[in-house]
Amino acid sequence: MTDTVFVLNGPNLNLLGQREPEIYGHQTLADIEEMLAQQAEELGLAISFHQTNHEGQLIDWLHDANRQEARAVLLNAAAYTHTSIALLDAIKAIEVPVIEVHLSDPETREEFRHLSYVGMAAADCVKGLGARSYSVALEKAAAL
Ligand code: DQA
Repeated sequence: MTDTVFVLNGPNLNLLGQREPEIYGHQTLADIEEMLAQQAEELGLAISFHQTNHEGQLIDWLHDANRQEARAVLLNAAAYTHTSIALLDAIKAIEVPVIEVHLSDPETREEFRHLSYVGMAAADCVKGLGARSYSVALEKAAAL
């Protein structure tokens, strides 16, 4: 196992900061990456940070994290959380623990966000804390 934690972000998260800020906050994804990079250094970890709007790319990165023996994956699959059996299968197929992350708390929102395919295989979940969800998830990854 290496000290690298993959941080994978799904669709529309490239628009953080301008996208529904009343739900997702004013911090951009670049702000979150910077915050995590600093925190990772303090924890003696490295992060490999990515965002894509494409489902298959998330799956390829999960496979990469496994091949590279990452410590953990923090996965905010955004809307694919609620739709993607392919992501569920990918998480089941790899050995690296996946921590599900959400800025908002999907379970307190529309009913279609209550189902999480990612959550069916994830080792843990941190949600509803805004950008801090990523920080808490990184602490959990460090403790693995
Ligand atoms: C989200 C919650 C999802 O329901 C939504 O589709 C997102 C963001 C979150 O971080 O709160 O795009 O994953």
